[in-house]
Amino acid sequence: MDAEFIPALRFAVLTPWYDRVVAWSTREAAMKARVVALAAPRSGERVLDLGCGTGTLLLALAKAAPGASLTGVDADPTILALATAKTQAAGVGARLLPGWSNALPLPQSCFDAAVSTLFFHHLQPHAKRRTVQELLRVLRPGGRLVIADFGRADAGWRRGMFHMVRLLDGYPNTRDHAAGTLATYLLDAGFVDVRSLAPLPVPLGSIDFLVATRPARA
Ligand SMILES: C[S@@+](CC[C@H](N)C(=O)[O-])C[C@H]1O[C@@H](n2cnc3c(N)ncnc32)[C@H](O)[C@@H]1O
Repeated sequence: MDAEFIPALRFAVLTPWYDRVVAWSTREAAMKARVVALAAPRSGERVLDLGCGTGTLLLALAKAAPGASLTGVDADPTILALATAKTQAAGVGARLLPGWSNALPLPQSCFDAAVSTLFFHHLQPHAKRRTVQELLRVLRPGGRLVIADFGRADAGWRRGMFHMVRLLDGYPNTRDHAAGTLATYLLDAGFVDVRSLAPLPVPLGSIDFLVATRPARA
């Protein structure tokens, strides 16, 4: 394991509890429904879920576009086993790959769209930079990116609640989320049409939604 790796709930022993905790603390159903709507997957498209965790978003993508070809990547074999069990139980044929986001085990230009939820705040700034470059590489020209993750909450008490996340997952990796500057990584890497949409207030802070496109001519 990478020394910087931060598991889903920081401690591997908490991984089996992940789905229950995230469901209420991040308004998961509403948040992931919005990501699916923004990604707008179509039958026949190839879609990546980066840092897929237990596979909940893959299930929602499959429901929205049953004919899409879905791939989930995550560094943690324990959580990928949970994702495998969930997708198989739901009859969803997603490809689940172990891998690090800063060196994706995938060829270039192999996805029409990529999504990622609650993942980037697990990465240190240098890993965020490298990961965004990898997303640019694996998306086809014109490919779409949708990211949902913690941002800077408007209300002071929500910014206070975000400290619970930061205490658990770490401060250096969440600093740019507390500052609301995640979009900068996308712009610096060369994504275009980068937009930050209306945030979703959640019990543990506020979720930002970022959409971006790989330039048609890279
Ligand atoms: C908070 S969980 C989010 C899981 C899922 N996307 C969701 O919305 O429920 C963060 C996930 O990122 C994975 N992860 C953390 N660092 C990673 C890295 N460098 N490369 C790939 N996966 C990583 C963890 O194993 C974990 O499953």
